[in-house]
Amino acid sequence: MSTKLRVGIVGVGGNGGRFLDAYATNPRAEVVALCDIREDHRQALQDKYQVPYGYDSIEALLRHDEVDLVSIHGPDGLHAPFTLAALDAAKHVFVEKPMATTVADCLQVVERADRAPTRMAVGHVLRTRPFFRMVKEMVDAGELGSLHAMRTHYLNDAMRRGPRFLDIANRSYSPPMLTMGVHPVDLMRWYGGDVTHVQAMGNQGLALPGNPIDDSVTAVYRFASGATGSITVCWASHYVFDSFYGLELHGSGASVVWDKIHGRELHKVTPLPQPPATGRDGYAAEVDSVVDSLLDDTPLFCDVREGARSAIACLTALEAAKTGEMLAVPNP
Ligand SMILES: NC(=O)c1ccc[n+]([C@@H]2O[C@H](COP(=O)([O-])OP(=O)(O)OC[C@H]3O[C@@H](n4cnc5c(N)ncnc54)[C@H](O)[C@@H]3O)[C@@H](O)[C@H]2O)c1
Repeated sequence: MSTKLRVGIVGVGGNGGRFLDAYATNPRAEVVALCDIREDHRQALQDKYQVPYGYDSIEALLRHDEVDLVSIHGPDGLHAPFTLAALDAAKHVFVEKPMATTVADCLQVVERADRAPTRMAVGHVLRTRPFFRMVKEMVDAGELGSLHAMRTHYLNDAMRRGPRFLDIANRSYSPPMLTMGVHPVDLMRWYGGDVTHVQAMGNQGLALPGNPIDDSVTAVYRFASGATGSITVCWASHYVFDSFYGLELHGSGASVVWDKIHGRELHKVTPLPQPPATGRDGYAAEVDSVVDSLLDDTPLFCDVREGARSAIACLTALEAAKTGEMLAVPNP
């Protein structure tokens, strides 16, 4: 590998475009190729960021010898086939969440990544956010004691904002419980460990007339530790999205509820400090972490197994909502 990580980005829409900016401003990375089926749009980004090569298929990009890392930001349903192709071409992979849209694909990707000579990261960006990292350090240091209950949500009003969002959702996303729910489910798993079982229910056609997507899904997880964790996901709420994801962690020693900690002293509520902005927040922090881990051979912030387990937890919840049964979660 050269001293800089040479990156090829696949899918340079809204999310991929923001990643392009994050890679282009990382001093240890060099974006050498873009791939998108929208040729004019891709060419405009190549011109703006002075990226030498452009392709309209991942197969063509993978023939490019000078790409070390393939960064995948195409539609959810293409994550697994693109990842498998990149691993087979012996490239490192960064793939956006959700890692895949079926349990079988998640398992296949894990199996292929285990055999690959390269490494793979999954885009659970919240793990790189200073606030959630601070909470992780508190959990790991035992400040909350043993966790017994977690509660979270991912609610927003995206489906009420007119047809443009529905368009993007149809083109590039999967069901809300997967494409959105995987963020807070991953947070609960990061703090509370693996899940073993899930029960879930959902509905459609109540929140927004004609909404072609689940109004809401609520799932309850059993964790291997014995803890429970619940999540409600809705894209058609009136709720204005808040970046704390409604996070609640209840432990034997203290509770974190959103941005406050309860119980350091009995009946005492203390605001948690907000870590200062670094100037490399959001996707830039995620990109910096992946680039450093690959160049320095240090652990990735979210590896293939972690990404797979979070996606499978969501996919099993969707299946449980369909069957009405409590289901075991098949962790790879
Ligand atoms: N981590 C996060 O918080 C976060 C936020 C938004 C989106 N995402 C994920 O990013 C991905 C993209 O979402 P988006 O909002 O950018 O959607 P988008 O529709 O804006 O972008 C998708 C891009 O992929 C391109 N594309 C489609 N098929 C392709 C193919 N066969 N080969 C190459 N390019 C192809 C499209 O032309 C488009 O430019 C999704 O998987 C989504 O779940 C993650």
